[in-house]
Amino acid sequence: MSVRRLAPKELQPASFEFTAENLAWAKAQIAKYPEGRQASAVIPILWKVQEQHDGWVSEPAIRAVADLLDMPYIRVLEVATFYTMFQLQPVGKKAHVQVCGTTPCQLRGAGDLIKECQHRIHHDPFHLSADGDFSWEEVECLGACVNAPMMMVGKDTYEDLTVESFNKVLDGFAAGNPPKPGPQSTRPSSAPISGLTSLKDKV
Ligand code: FES
Repeated sequence: MSVRRLAPKELQPASFEFTAENLAWAKAQIAKYPEGRQASAVIPILWKVQEQHDGWVSEPAIRAVADLLDMPYIRVLEVATFYTMFQLQPVGKKAHVQVCGTTPCQLRGAGDLIKECQHRIHHDPFHLSADGDFSWEEVECLGACVNAPMMMVGKDTYEDLTVESFNKVLDGFAAGNPPKPGPQSTRPSSAPISGLTSLKDKV
């Protein structure tokens, strides 16, 4: 896993302001928690900030979230830099591809998917593709090991990937029409790929 740092100063915007709609949404989240526990809303609010700000969380945005929640800046920075769901630099306009590189996915071909990212998007993670549409990174286990190898884009996972189906998913994002999330094989969820082997009889 890579070191997670804020983007350099030249990429940071001068300021961040919630849209009126997102501010109202954030206040509604905060109101769900008891007095004195407003900080519990930090993750959903950071996620909303990321959605508002073209898929990444800037340093001024982290300060704005901290001010809203009455938290020290360092506490929100800690959250934003810990979780790989938060992007700390500009990402591809159409997709930021997170490929799981942990052991079960590696054993099932994640290395080939990473090579494909290097070939198709950029040699190095966190760099934009030439057209600015894609970026990628390798992340740790995303909890879908039973359908390894897999990747995540935003909130969605794409599983049981091969190099071919991986490219089909990227083609879908490039065309603005990504495929249905979940297994890209023929099996439903994580059922046996060869069909049921037990519990076949109806009682
Ligand atoms: S090892 Fe890849 S999802 Fe768990």
